[in-house]
Amino acid sequence: MNVLLGVGGGIAAYKAAELARALMEGGARVQVVMTAAAQEFVRPLTFAALTGRKVITDLFSSASGDATLSSAVEHIAVAQENGLFAVAPATADLLAKFANGLADDFLTTAYLAFTGPVILAPAMNTNMWLHPATRENVKRLRDRGHRIVEPEEGYLACGMTGAGRLASPDAIARAVLAEGNRRSDLEGETVLVTAGPTQEPIDPVRYLTNRSSGKMGYAIAEAARARGARVILVSGPVHIQAPRDVTLVPVRTANEMRAAVLDRLDKATIIVKSAAVADFHVSRPPEQKIKKTAARLTLELDPTPDILSELGRRKGDRLLIGFAAETENLNREAHRKLETKNCDMIVGNLVGGALGFDSDENEVVLALRTGETVPVERASKRAIADRIFDEALRLRQALHARQ
Ligand SMILES: Cc1cc2nc3c(=O)[nH]c(=O)nc-3n(C[C@H](O)[C@H](O)[C@H](O)COP(=O)(O)O)c2cc1C
Repeated sequence: MNVLLGVGGGIAAYKAAELARALMEGGARVQVVMTAAAQEFVRPLTFAALTGRKVITDLFSSASGDATLSSAVEHIAVAQENGLFAVAPATADLLAKFANGLADDFLTTAYLAFTGPVILAPAMNTNMWLHPATRENVKRLRDRGHRIVEPEEGYLACGMTGAGRLASPDAIARAVLAEGNRRSDLEGETVLVTAGPTQEPIDPVRYLTNRSSGKMGYAIAEAARARGARVILVSGPVHIQAPRDVTLVPVRTANEMRAAVLDRLDKATIIVKSAAVADFHVSRPPEQKIKKTAARLTLELDPTPDILSELGRRKGDRLLIGFAAETENLNREAHRKLETKNCDMIVGNLVGGALGFDSDENEVVLALRTGETVPVERASKRAIADRIFDEALRLRQALHARQ
């Protein structure tokens, strides 16, 4: 595993040397990139001696890189050569630059050119850490799917006591190495994800729909792709961008979603049905727009096909993961749905409050075929997506062991 280790200009920069060593002991090949401010605290020679590689210190000095990097556009080459991008200490300044896409030195430019997992270990004075600007930057970075290794509480070099001390190099190394292992654990899998709402026509210009934003399903697609899976994303109409490198199949109605999913079922090894499919559709929508009159209008609705049940009957040895949006009795309903639809996992979430449909965060329970219930605390939808796959792979092993 090739790790780009960025070192920012904070007092904790010296601890990054221990981190570099821990990463190498964990089997990683480490390329250190130091900001100009970091070099005020520690000399590049320390990292060069530890990693056995020249440290990158400057965007414009082509002589500063490793001999194997022949490209003159070194920040692009470095971004491509490394599978993980870790920064410790991540200064308030770096968090702000990453959050806003500034690129005025090697590390920030390489960040924009990097497409894999990012792990940031911030360290700073407590007031800097708690400042609304830093809070907003951290939230944006988390929402982008980056892993933040939270700073610890304790005595800080500035004399204050509080949150802001760099997490221990061992804890950061564990987080980086775990992310590296995750990166390939879905290789060889094809994950079929459904996302978003459906739209059921009332007439040519009106439709019935629901409040699903598609964010959860898109986060699942992104997580699966980041972990090496081939991803097919069957999506109802949403207003968000599809993740890179996934096959997007846009659909509108529940019937179209059913056809799109069943057509691709043979290819899938894992199916995640996070779409909020309409339960009813208008029986026979007229071909012409319904005219406004003073009379009461009654719509006749028929149930839509139950795609999850159909998948449950036809799933074979595929892992089938469904969603249950409930307004009460979450655990019981999630397990009931697991049984009746023959799923391997149901992701249950309470809707109606602040979390759920359009929010960037979620809080869920995972009901598993083994009978277990795993609560997942409030986190970004991207982080929850990773937890779903962590548990799905663990579940598959447990199910195989039973056979
Ligand atoms: C003695 C000293 C200690 C500093 N410690 C920190 C720190 O722990 N965290 C932080 O975010 N900034 C710290 N700073 C401020 C950064 O060095 C400054 O914001 C710098 O521009 C960061 O550059 P960089 O983000 O490119 O590394 C410190 C500054 C000084 C002078």
